Order: sequence, then C-alpha cells, then structure tokens
Amino acid sequence: IEAHFGKGPLSGRHLLVTSGPTHEPIDPVRVIANRSSGRQGHAIAQAAAGAGAKVTLVSGPVALPDPQGVQVVKVETAREMLAAVEAALPADAAVFAAAVADWRVAEEASQKIKKGAAGLPTLSFVENPDILATISRAAGRRPRLVVGFAAETSDVVANAAAKRMAKGCDWILANDVSAAAGVFGGEANTIHMISEAGVETWPRMDKAEAARQLIDRIAKQLGPVAP
Ligand code: CTP
Ligand code: CA
Repeated sequence: IEAHFGKGPLSGRHLLVTSGPTHEPIDPVRVIANRSSGRQGHAIAQAAAGAGAKVTLVSGPVALPDPQGVQVVKVETAREMLAAVEAALPADAAVFAAAVADWRVAEEASQKIKKGAAGLPTLSFVENPDILATISRAAGRRPRLVVGFAAETSDVVANAAAKRMAKGCDWILANDVSAAAGVFGGEANTIHMISEAGVETWPRMDKAEAARQLIDRIAKQLGPVAP
C-alpha cells in the first residue's frame, strides 16, 4: 500500500510512529521481548493517516494487520528500530509508542543453546540505544514535536514526568501497566498526558479514541501547513 497525503488537519505533514515490542535474539530460536500488542501505536498511525498525514510506522513483531494508507517498516530489534527511525526522518512529529527492550544479550549464540549440555545458561546483557532520547536530542533533524509513552506500574505521573525531562521529549503519554489496570493486550487505557503545561488525565477510553485524541492535539500543536 502506498503512503499518501490525504485531506485533513495533518495534510502535508509527515508523522513517524513506532509500535509493538522489539525482539532481541538469545540464539536462533529464543528472544528477549516486552509485552506489547502494538494496538496503541498502530491505532495512532491509522488515526494520523485518517487526518491526512503521510505516515511512517516502524513496527516490531505484532499480530496485527498493517494500517491502511501507512508506510510500514518491519523490524525485530531495538537497533533495527533506531536505524529505521533515522532513515524515515525528517518528520514533523514523532510518536514513540513501541515497547523497546531495554537490554539485549551481549553475545547472541549462533547455534541453538542445548538444554542440559553445559548446565543452566547464563546470559549477560548490554543496554540498547534509547530511540526516544536519541531522536529528542538529534540537533538539526529533531521533529518539531516528539511524543513518548511511559509504561509504569507505580507512581505513574511522577515517574513519567521525570522521564519527560530525562529524555528531552515534548509530551509523555503515561499509562498504568500494573496488573490491576489491564492495559496490555486490552482495548482501553487511562492516559495521563504530561507536557510543559502540566498533567491532563484523559477519561478511560479505547485505544482508537485515545489515538484520535492525540492526533487532534498534534494537529493543533503543529498548526496549519504554510502555503
Ligand atoms: N524507548 C525508546 N527506546 C528505548 C526504550 C524506550 O524509544 N530503548 C521509548 C519508548 O518507546 C517510550 C519511552 O521511551 O516512548 C519510555 O519507555 P519506558 O520503557 O517507559 O522508559 P525507560 O526510559 O526505558 O525506563 P524504564 O523502562 O526503566 O522505566
Ligand atoms: Ca524501558
């Protein structure tokens, strides 16, 4: 499917969206991954296309159809996701909804690790690049508006506000991923939007509606395209 410029409040804009988990290989058959269905990120890409934007969706492995009218780039690892994001710039706005694995295994085994052969395996880890922080600080090619997500299990707003400062993004959409909140794989979400202006808690709504709310705010923030 070809990416397109449609009519709507984001007509003439390029939006970049990350979605889904990343998979970091341990050996040819095993991975380290995060829980993420990709539903929120895919819904944001779909809503942006619906608002007339040209959309690039960089997605880790998900069991979802490609949103229509969106350029989809499929990746596995955090490093591949960063490379695909960099290749998709410039963008007017970027939304980082992916659940990126924070660590990868230091040395991927080239052969399947066999059970029992040498006792229990020991994995050592190295940190993955932080895609949101990298792009937020990318002088010269930083999108005008950079939006991150924060998955928290406690002190949701405080942790997310600290993340916004640490990463240098404009907005953070925080949600509670404790078991009680039931966000993962689910349809609905309570989002706290944190910006320079403060915290705005949205009513609980489904992910498609949350995506439209975010896209409305992005369109307002970017303003009309210069003729
Ligand atoms: N993110 C990213 N690259 C990473 C890790 C996170 O781009 N390597 C982005 C996510 O897409 C999200 C935001 O950073 O938009 C926050 O992710 P989160 O996992 O909540 O924050 P971390 O900074 O990784 O902190 P921690 O997991 O320790 O809470
Ligand atoms: Ca993380």
